[in-house]
Amino acid sequence: MRGKRVAIVGVGNVGSSVAYSLAMSGSCHEVILRANDVDKAKGKALDLSQAAQAARKHTIVSVAETLEDVRDCDVVVITAGSPRLPGMSRDDLLLKNATIMRDIMSSIKKTSPDAIIIPVSNPLDAMVYVALKESGWKRNRVIGMAGILDSARMAHFVYEKLGYGAGQIRCSVMGGHGDDMVPLPRFSTVAGVPLTDLLTWEEINEIVEKTRKGGAEIVGLLKDGSAYYAPAKATALMVEAVLSDKKQIYPCAVMLDGEYGYKDTVSGVPVMIGANGAEKIIEANLNDDQDRKFAKSIGSVQELIDTLYTNGFYKK
Ligand code: 2OP
Repeated sequence: MRGKRVAIVGVGNVGSSVAYSLAMSGSCHEVILRANDVDKAKGKALDLSQAAQAARKHTIVSVAETLEDVRDCDVVVITAGSPRLPGMSRDDLLLKNATIMRDIMSSIKKTSPDAIIIPVSNPLDAMVYVALKESGWKRNRVIGMAGILDSARMAHFVYEKLGYGAGQIRCSVMGGHGDDMVPLPRFSTVAGVPLTDLLTWEEINEIVEKTRKGGAEIVGLLKDGSAYYAPAKATALMVEAVLSDKKQIYPCAVMLDGEYGYKDTVSGVPVMIGANGAEKIIEANLNDDQDRKFAKSIGSVQELIDTLYTNGFYKK
């Protein structure tokens, strides 16, 4: 039996931190980096391989010189995408990154025909839609990373408010990875105690707002980029759940097919991840308020997907 192979397409801060996390856990045999700047990828691969030796792990980090060389991988993580540049509208960014995703998937579907794909690039939910459409694969094989990150951010803000419980906080966030994401305080606990028993609604609402703006807060402080350690760890958890067939439930962005009352659209929902990717979508019972917020978030993602059609990227 050959060892597990994970490709990472795009080795900016997020991609290389995913590789680092995988190399440090030794959860796969080989991590393959693919970037347009091949020398940069080679430099990172050497550095990461040496880090793996220091950690006494067997993971090898190598480079694919072309996209066609990303062969026979079990999981392909896609972090490649343009950041939003000055003068670029949200729609410009969407179309640019959709084109990058299209190019990557048209190659990957031939060279790694059995892979599970984890899109990380933004706008995340729309990128999951594009990756799935370009592959023509079943929806279980494309799982977007966002919900674990957003839930971890919420957990951090709960810790900040409480001043205790770090590492024991379980938060739940559903919906798209955008301003309308749906943090779910009623589904969040600290060592099993409902969050709603520990904090007032005023405090909880502050946490919800901070969670929604969690990515922007980091961009504002870093000034030259966006977050990467938490996004990378969240991605690595998903990769490891697939490689080890863990059957663990994580919030991830998947195509809905009737779940929660929606079809042909992508949203973050609790998903059981195993060797076959998103093996089961968990349908939690939402109350009216949660349902309304989820519907709003679905609407925002749907607007992005609609833009792909109105701009001719896809035809109805
Ligand atoms: C984040 O939320 C930019 O999606 C990235 O940090």
